[in-house]
Amino acid sequence: MTNLTFNMSRTIGRTLKAGDEIIVTSMDHEGNISPWLHLAQDLGLTIRWLKFNRETWCIEREDLEALINDKTRVLALNYASNLTGSINNVEQLVDIARSAGVLTYIDAVQLAPHALIDVKSIGCDFLACSSYKFFGPHLGILWGRQEILEELEAYKCRCSSMALPEKFETGTPQIELLSGLSETVGYLEWLGKQLGGSGERRDLLKVAYDGFCDYENGLTRTLIEGLGGISGVTIHGITNNNRIAQRVPTISFTHEKLAPEFIAGAMAQKGIFVWHGHNYAFEPVRHLGIDETSGVVRVGIAHYNTPSEIEYSLEQFASVLEN
Ligand SMILES: Cc1ncc(COP(=O)(O)O)c(C=O)c1O
Repeated sequence: MTNLTFNMSRTIGRTLKAGDEIIVTSMDHEGNISPWLHLAQDLGLTIRWLKFNRETWCIEREDLEALINDKTRVLALNYASNLTGSINNVEQLVDIARSAGVLTYIDAVQLAPHALIDVKSIGCDFLACSSYKFFGPHLGILWGRQEILEELEAYKCRCSSMALPEKFETGTPQIELLSGLSETVGYLEWLGKQLGGSGERRDLLKVAYDGFCDYENGLTRTLIEGLGGISGVTIHGITNNNRIAQRVPTISFTHEKLAPEFIAGAMAQKGIFVWHGHNYAFEPVRHLGIDETSGVVRVGIAHYNTPSEIEYSLEQFASVLEN
């Protein structure tokens, strides 16, 4: 995804001029920030920072509206944060940007393992994700609005096809990965059938993802409640039970005394993998006032985790954090 975004930001850059503005957010992963910062540096563009609201954990419409002006050309926006887990109201934010003639580039990497994406209902111009996050191979994916892809001038070998769909493919296709990706979608369809679904691929994917959402939300509630009950823990993200549907099950926390690296190491000794650090959510960590060299402990749940695994993890967290 990061590679594709570096590539596409440069391609979009061919339509921009010095003084044009790009909006990036304090909620995004660096994969949807650094490409735009480099582009701005190369072309003399202005970067405007859109901060997420620290009470709602989301990007609020009035904050976006306040940044858009007649020089704004691109909004780079994340769908769901890979640090706080919160899900933005992308339909609403894209609508605001598009009505002002601003191109919208959505990073859906963190959402794709947990919810079904519908580019048509979002109304965005570009949407990127990464198949290893939804149980497939390490292959970035970029969807673009056809009329925009047709207009843009691709960076590619002059002797290869400039027609869609190959237009933005460079070199030999990653055939093994594409094959793995097809099988991954096949797995998701199979899950849809296991959950009682029938019909076309999209219908099966919907059943599978609806199943994930309900199931993962239950595990998330248990994990948040358990972690929140351990003294010294601060969860950085939505914890309110009524707002669980507005987050993915990616839960980050810090402890008042113990460093994230220590906690992750101690959990690894118990056979539980949790991540530590800024997780490339460099700006979210800074915006929250967290030390960026130590970051947070991040726990990720997927549809294959079981209630007993969550219970076991909580027992282990308690033993590490309370002793
Ligand atoms: C929200 C988000 N965006 C972008 C990326 C980068 O994806 P990739 O590793 O495919 O470049 C990640 C990876 O963790 C992510 O979580």
